[in-house]
Amino acid sequence: MDAAHIDDDLVNVLFTEAQIQEKLGELAARIEQDYEGEDLLIVGILRGAVMVMADMARALTRHVEMDWMAVSSYGSGTKSSGVVRILKDLDTDISGRHVLIVDEIIDTGLTLSWLTSNLTSRNPASVEICTLLRKPEAQRMPVDVKYVGWDIPNEFVVGYGLDYRERYRNLRDIGTLAPHVYS
Ligand code: IMP
Ligand code: MG
Repeated sequence: MDAAHIDDDLVNVLFTEAQIQEKLGELAARIEQDYEGEDLLIVGILRGAVMVMADMARALTRHVEMDWMAVSSYGSGTKSSGVVRILKDLDTDISGRHVLIVDEIIDTGLTLSWLTSNLTSRNPASVEICTLLRKPEAQRMPVDVKYVGWDIPNEFVVGYGLDYRERYRNLRDIGTLAPHVYS
């Protein structure tokens, strides 16, 4: 669906479908350059990163393996609970592999900071992070994010994989959710 289908629910559209695709193309080009000649495993964090993975992987003009993890860091609301739990682990043995974690948004950074040290303990050749969006809070965490699409203000956003109570993931654009939806 498009922003027009739910326009009461959004304060504004932050990034259109076209802007997102253009940004993913830029990130893919950088990734191709940085991993030239290396094998690469991209790890998508379910469920929010499904759209980013699907489009970024297809923007790459090289072979790449894809795997998935599911972790929970949020309850059903708009605030981080601070608790990280593995709901679905990798199917791949990553020892000696170059791993790129792909996520849609970093808020506090808690999830990815925890995940990075978890994956690093499995002796991969490298672990890096790619996120489409990053909120200001994340700068305070000691998590090194190599690829960032956009830094955004500290507002709750939905669309392109990002949900509020499991809705809006199938919105093509990314927008700021209107407070009346969650208050
Ligand atoms: P962190 O551990 O605080 O960085 O949590 C990151 C996770 O929280 C993301 O992968 C999202 O699932 C969720 N999240 C954080 N901010 C938003 C938002 O603005 N909209 C939707 N989900 C969000
Ligand atoms: Mg997520």
